[in-house]
Amino acid sequence: MANIPTPHINAPEGAFARTVLMPGDPLRARYIADNYLENAVLVNNVRGVQGYTGDYKGKKVSVMASGMGMPSIGIYSYELFNFYGVENIIRVGTAGALSPKLQLRDVVVGMSAYTDSNYGAQFGYKGTLSPCCSYPLMSAAIQAADKLGVNIVPGPICSHDSFYTQGEYNSTPILQKLSVLCVEMEAYALYLNAAAAGKNALALLTISDSLVTGESLPAEDRQTTFTRMMEIALEIA
Ligand code: HPA
Repeated sequence: MANIPTPHINAPEGAFARTVLMPGDPLRARYIADNYLENAVLVNNVRGVQGYTGDYKGKKVSVMASGMGMPSIGIYSYELFNFYGVENIIRVGTAGALSPKLQLRDVVVGMSAYTDSNYGAQFGYKGTLSPCCSYPLMSAAIQAADKLGVNIVPGPICSHDSFYTQGEYNSTPILQKLSVLCVEMEAYALYLNAAAAGKNALALLTISDSLVTGESLPAEDRQTTFTRMMEIALEIA
């Protein structure tokens, strides 16, 4: 295809599976490849954004990092959907809880994404864009979580543009009033890119900290809780 390799992915045609699991962190991508995939091959390493394709229970699966924030996941998901023939992208990340009902380690599935970002302006629509996840992927994730005995909470999430927000502009109380479950920084762009490409996306998020209580997961716990979410994603890939 004329567009590949792309400016950000130096892989040949056919290098990616139909489904790509997408953590934010390149080292997580490598951890998944090392621990879950058989015959994993490094298919991308431009800017250290590691992408691997291998086998999980006889199924071909890819994993590649998104980097942090909507501009970054916007680039990688666009190129995978539009130039590499990828059908499904499952984000596997962390989020900060807004809902007092969420505990650290819970897994949230983002049904829809709010945002304070201008990412959607590129589509030229004068109203409000309200991207949502793929229903088949969400439904499969809920079933897989039940089987694995993991508590999974579906609902709206918010993808924000700034991790460190200035106090007077803190939107936490408004989002809580609107029953938004948690905040992260990527799903909105991923869901819009999937919608525009006619493809499928899902964000699975482990609650790593709480904006309600101020608690956060210790580093070693992050690895084990991440593993449970990973297994859900691999089952539905
Ligand atoms: N914002 C706040 N807390 C978080 C985030 C975020 O984007 N990601 C993980 N915890």
